[in-house]
Amino acid sequence: MIQTLSPHDAMLDDPWADWLLDGRNAGDPVFEQRIQARVDEYIDHALQPLELQPGASLLDFGCGDGALGLRALQARDDLRVVFADTSAELLDRANRRAEAAGVDARCRFVWLADGDLGVIPAASLDAVCTRSALAYVPDKHRMLTQFHRVLRPGGMLSLAEPIFRDDALMCCAERAVLDGPQAAELPPLLRLLHDWRARQFPDTAEAVADCPHCNFSERDLFAWVMQAGFAQPHLELHIDAGPPLAPDWDSFTRHTPHPFATSLRDVLDWECAPEQGAALEGLLREQWEQGAMSSVDRMAYLHARRPQEPAPPPG
Ligand SMILES: C[S@@+](CC[C@H](N)C(=O)[O-])C[C@H]1O[C@@H](n2cnc3c(N)ncnc32)[C@H](O)[C@@H]1O
Repeated sequence: MIQTLSPHDAMLDDPWADWLLDGRNAGDPVFEQRIQARVDEYIDHALQPLELQPGASLLDFGCGDGALGLRALQARDDLRVVFADTSAELLDRANRRAEAAGVDARCRFVWLADGDLGVIPAASLDAVCTRSALAYVPDKHRMLTQFHRVLRPGGMLSLAEPIFRDDALMCCAERAVLDGPQAAELPPLLRLLHDWRARQFPDTAEAVADCPHCNFSERDLFAWVMQAGFAQPHLELHIDAGPPLAPDWDSFTRHTPHPFATSLRDVLDWECAPEQGAALEGLLREQWEQGAMSSVDRMAYLHARRPQEPAPPPG
């Protein structure tokens, strides 16, 4: 029997629920619509390679408020989905969305108290699909081994994970210049700009190595998937640059790219002297108004299969 827990205590301090429901969209409904449209594109690309037989079961790992699993259920009326997350509040929200969509009879909700899939029986699922969740798990190799365990032989895994390593390495390079011999000749605003970026991504090699969502590349994912015992892995890396999704300057300053980042607004208001904050805001706002800002999106899509068990020896 799979747990269907939603303990109140676990809802009290939940940075993921705060971020997913508010921080990423700065409380702006237009921003949220744009984010959802982008997320749906990622999800569709992750679901597309799965070969699901009638009545198949799928695990939506790190389901958040259920975006991936609900999309899969709406596309296939014979599919069953196990939603799993460490956030009880998000799991509860996914449950309520499933009820509202009339698909809850085909759903199970599993609260992963310690991020472990131990409550899901071995070889019990036909597919595991996840979007932007494995990236935040510290031991990805171990989690991939757990995905392999819960899949039946021949079952499929499909991942869509953001690659933040380049953002972190750029932040490190910037810090090296600011700490280098030319530091005194650099415009003071560059340091302020860096102070903001360093509140979003680590800026030393040690800090990058310690940061689960920055310390791996798409090639590491590929190697870990193979080491976990999966076969026929296929990887695509999509890199897209475009204007930021925020609809206006105010939302841009108040959103954060992940729950462990500080918004530009908080850096300006709380971490800069007033005249420095005004100078940095003036510089960035001018770029915003000229349409000169762009954001780069790096997504790794990887699918693979748990091999069929070898045939038993004759006799
Ligand atoms: C960026 S959100 C993605 C949510 C959802 N997959 C989507 O596409 O909208 C990351 C999710 O991963 C969950 N998460 C983070 N660490 C986790 C872990 N170790 N085990 C399971 N879920 C985790 C968070 O609670 C959050 O719901």
